[in-house]
Amino acid sequence: MVPWKMKAIKSCGEEMGKRIQKKIAEITIAIDGPAGSGKSTVAKRVAAALGILYLDTGAMYRAITLKALRADLPLTDEVALAKLAASTVLEFKQNADGTYHLYMDGEDVSTEIRMAPVTKAVSVVSAVPGVREVLVKQQKRIGRHGGVVMDGRDIGTVVLPQADLKIFLTASLGERAYRRWLELQAKGCAVTKDEVEEDLKRRDAFDAGRPVAPLRPAPDSVTLDTTALTIEEVVERILALSSSFCSKQEG
Ligand code: DC
Repeated sequence: MVPWKMKAIKSCGEEMGKRIQKKIAEITIAIDGPAGSGKSTVAKRVAAALGILYLDTGAMYRAITLKALRADLPLTDEVALAKLAASTVLEFKQNADGTYHLYMDGEDVSTEIRMAPVTKAVSVVSAVPGVREVLVKQQKRIGRHGGVVMDGRDIGTVVLPQADLKIFLTASLGERAYRRWLELQAKGCAVTKDEVEEDLKRRDAFDAGRPVAPLRPAPDSVTLDTTALTIEEVVERILALSSSFCSKQEG
């Protein structure tokens, strides 16, 4: 059992501990925020620490975008994009090493969905109401039974409005661009920090300005500015919030 869980459970009686453990297994955590705020890294670690599922909803929009690009579908054809989304089977599978892979119609597309052509086009595809309708329905279904950390842009506002814990992660544009640039460098992509910053700015504006499910914090969310925090510190804060939620429920 992870140390955090042990601490929470040891600090109360055995019976209460069991109830808290059950509550942890059923918790729903929504993590939203702009590109590069560290959502997916943090969400993955929180899910692993709690022993619950992690769902990367951005990857689902990326997969539909990849399929549309491969099919040479005009990104202005909203009806065709929605049909494409409805006829696509998306599955997340966890490998033995703990990493999550996304399969699109049976093909592992985890690497290709992170590449530049998809990153460039995904804001447009994810703004199409028919595409969102299809994917949100799947996300709601996965979240229905709890035991999940989901990250995206509209999780606390649309997908899981009843989530037990809603987190909105932010960081300064400069810091987000720097983090993304480091990630891209590690993958061997030749881009400048300015280019990364411009791309983030463009995507932020698009995601926050679209009429359907725009990026914004849910009114009952906790905003964490991660500019000066390490990943470990952000994870610890979310685990502490989860612990206090579960204890309050059982207290
Ligand atoms: O988190 P990401 O960069 O992988 O997300 C890719 C795109 O998908 C991003 O431009 C916004 C969009 N998205 C969305 O509209 N709603 C979500 N729940 C998740 C992502």
